[in-house]
Amino acid sequence: MKTAIVGTGYVGLVSGTCFAELGHEVICVDNNEEKVKILREGGIPIYEPGLKELVEKNVKAGRLSFSTDIKKALEKSEVIFVAVNTPPLPDGSADLCYVEAVSREIAQNLPGYRVVVSKSTVPVETGKWIKKTIDRYAPEGAEYDVASNPEFLREGKAVDDFLNPDRVVIGVESQRAKEKMLELYEPLKEKTEILVTNIESAELIKHASNSFLAMKISYINAIANICERTEADVQEVARGMGLDERIGNHFLQAGAGFGGSCFPKDLSAFIDIAAKLGYDFNLLREVEKINTDQKKHIVEKCKNTLWNLKGKKIAVLGLAFKPDTDDMRNAPAIDIINDLLKEGASIKACDPQAAANAKKILPDSVEYCADAYETAQGCDLLLIVTDWEEYRNMDLGRIKKALNDPPSIVDGRNIFDPEDMKKRGFHYTGVGR
Ligand code: NAD
Ligand code: UGA
Repeated sequence: MKTAIVGTGYVGLVSGTCFAELGHEVICVDNNEEKVKILREGGIPIYEPGLKELVEKNVKAGRLSFSTDIKKALEKSEVIFVAVNTPPLPDGSADLCYVEAVSREIAQNLPGYRVVVSKSTVPVETGKWIKKTIDRYAPEGAEYDVASNPEFLREGKAVDDFLNPDRVVIGVESQRAKEKMLELYEPLKEKTEILVTNIESAELIKHASNSFLAMKISYINAIANICERTEADVQEVARGMGLDERIGNHFLQAGAGFGGSCFPKDLSAFIDIAAKLGYDFNLLREVEKINTDQKKHIVEKCKNTLWNLKGKKIAVLGLAFKPDTDDMRNAPAIDIINDLLKEGASIKACDPQAAANAKKILPDSVEYCADAYETAQGCDLLLIVTDWEEYRNMDLGRIKKALNDPPSIVDGRNIFDPEDMKKRGFHYTGVGR
């Protein structure tokens, strides 16, 4: 099927490439000319494992192309996805101006029946606004349907998540749109459940799912705080909880809290839309608060180790909001490093992929190093913020030698075993253990 994706960011590029991999003909559109130029020249503007090879393969096969021209893409496509960013406004609500702008542009260039699908994460009832916008700007008699198809991929695992999803959710309001959408996802129908709902339910499924996952993380971080006041170990508690199939063992990893471009913004947007609909979603406010407190708690752990941070050198391992991405949006490392700097510490830091993006966000005083060993050299404390595989596998003997005595580690992701670290001669502090 011929398809266009407007917005070629993390979601647009991965979705477009994977739809091409499933055999469709896809045009990825973006108004960022520099981004489109990079893609046309064979570059990839983001770090996402496996994506580069898949883009190359599908471009070569003639199924995937890149453009800045919505009009031309619309002419050639039956289904048009809106995958633009929906960032938070200062009051926490979702900024839908990019969704509105693209809806308007689509309306003004509708060449015949098209399905306009929101893949961006949007508050419930945004579909109605997209429809109103298209009605307002489209030529009279223009034929189209609006649909919602929220995306559930995770950064770092995006390609696999898209091609092997737990479910596909499609929100439609007509049989015609339903058929088009089912045709598009036909190649996945053997391996996953395709849930067809109305548009509002589909929109709500996305906010409800992300908020639930964020709630699980804050819940286990709250439990970790209780564990720290007792002899309990949060890793064991999480395992014991997770063995109950009704709870499940995913997203119960206590640590430095959640970050990223989605959980924080989707929580606040969900709280906002709930309030506008007359419901006070206090539960989610608490989820946010626990997450904010958790980052402060990591700084407290550094203080509890070194007492006074003024003049101390801290080695920070990991800057990205999670491993296998270069994405720094709302990364816990940002708040933690800023707080450590405020306390008078100096920071050496490294990240396998995110250092270039981190430089644009963090204060200039942060010193960037090539790897964990160079970062640890001459530091009073090593702080693990992102659980990259290479930190799990690092040579702890070398780290011990590189650190000042006594060698101290605050493990903000519980990647090491406390007993083992003690045996190796570290002053070690994890989370909730
Ligand atoms: P992003 O910022 O990486 O990409 C958005 C792209 O849209 C940018 O390249 C931007 O230039 C482009 N754009 C903005 N306005 C445009 C316009 N008028 N015309 C053409 N292009 C335009 O964002 P993202 O991370 O891909 O997220 C997109 C949406 O998907 C958000 O709503 C997000 O919540 C949702 N989402 C993201 C993820 C994720 O892992 N990043 C996962 C699921 C859902
Ligand atoms: C999340 C969801 O998992 C995706 O399903 C969703 O599509 C996406 O948001 C989105 O809407 O953008 P993502 O933000 O890429 O995906 O990454 P996650 O793996 O969910 O991790 C988010 C944050 O939670 C990271 O900072 C991670 O370190 C933290 N986390 C995760 C924990 O602290 N503990 C856990 O047990 C799991």
